[in-house]
Amino acid sequence: MTLLDVDALSVEFRTRRSLGRRDVVAAVRDVSFQIAPGETLGLVGESGSGKSTIGRAVLHLLRPRSGTITFSGRDLTAIRGRLPAELRRAIQAVFQDPYSSLDPTKVIADLVAEPLVTHLGLGRSERRERAAHALERVGLERRHLERYPYELSGGQRQRVCIARALLSEPSLMVLDEPVSALDVSTQSQVINLLADVQADSGVGYLFIAHDLTVVRHLSHRIAALYRGRVVEDGGAARVADQPAHPYTQALVASVPVPDPVVQTRRRELRRRLLAAAPQRAAEPADGCPFAPRCSYAFEPCWSTFPVATPVVGGGHVRCHLYDQTATTPQPIATGLGMEASLTSLEP
Ligand SMILES: Nc1ncnc2c1ncn2[C@@H]1O[C@H](COP(=O)(O)OP(=O)(O)OP(=O)(O)O)[C@@H](O)[C@H]1O
Ligand SMILES: [Mg+2]
Repeated sequence: MTLLDVDALSVEFRTRRSLGRRDVVAAVRDVSFQIAPGETLGLVGESGSGKSTIGRAVLHLLRPRSGTITFSGRDLTAIRGRLPAELRRAIQAVFQDPYSSLDPTKVIADLVAEPLVTHLGLGRSERRERAAHALERVGLERRHLERYPYELSGGQRQRVCIARALLSEPSLMVLDEPVSALDVSTQSQVINLLADVQADSGVGYLFIAHDLTVVRHLSHRIAALYRGRVVEDGGAARVADQPAHPYTQALVASVPVPDPVVQTRRRELRRRLLAAAPQRAAEPADGCPFAPRCSYAFEPCWSTFPVATPVVGGGHVRCHLYDQTATTPQPIATGLGMEASLTSLEP
């Protein structure tokens, strides 16, 4: 059975404007995806693309304008107010900044054991034992129980947040940029930990990040979000190595690589993918939201939003470059680290 089924989710924010006018921000538009037990869906996109809004909707922290979120067969959007306790336990979250998620006045033992107090009402020594066990599970030690958050490194603090979430034995975790604040080597340690936890427990992840390389290592599938819309999805390797949508290609090309030759090529590629000046000022109402920035934009892009077209190698892309070319569309730039990548972009 599907663990999480998000269907046609749309979220709007109303912001107050001067003169009594109200502005509506369509933060998430018609987004659908599924996560199976033990599976990771990576959600990537630039800042403001709507990633956290989707995460918050799944966590029942905001009411969508439309669409449904079904978790283990239960329609969460039909539930008014707080989720019942068993659902709050089953869906846990880890956020970017572990420092602000941890009360600085409490020792780790109490922070980790918090869910045991609120959910299970266990006694003190039992809580301590379980907290110690949870710390060991995330690669920390019993001696860390008496430490305060400021005495730990960023990576250790994030491990504490993960330990705390695990104590509720969740079947789904929303990971909103869990490693973005960490240095690169700590990032891969925490990613490895999350992979181990998943292999042990079968937890599903909604893994949110702006960096595609970070997402790729943990994800089974990836969805790329632009201005609240999924413009491409597919298996993690296909999306990361052979991105089809010009926007996803730009995301891949913006990941720094150590090889200076490849790096120069990627910078050039990115420059070509993204129009230097917007071709038209405003995003078209019914067209592709990426059109104003896209070097490939042509007439259909300004009038109709592309349908989801299957991509060779799996998944879908919403881009008119593909629905024009019959049944077997090819990514327009393949192998971004390779020789061919720039020549294939020549008009
Ligand atoms: N509470 C809010 N009120 C009004 N607008 C909001 C609110 N939360 C988010 N938005 C808007 O919704 C859009 C999506 O925001 P969101 O935080 O989901 O993006 P994000 O992809 O998580 O970005 P980042 O990578 O910076 O975290 C943005 O335009 C943002 O300004
Ligand atoms: Mg965010």
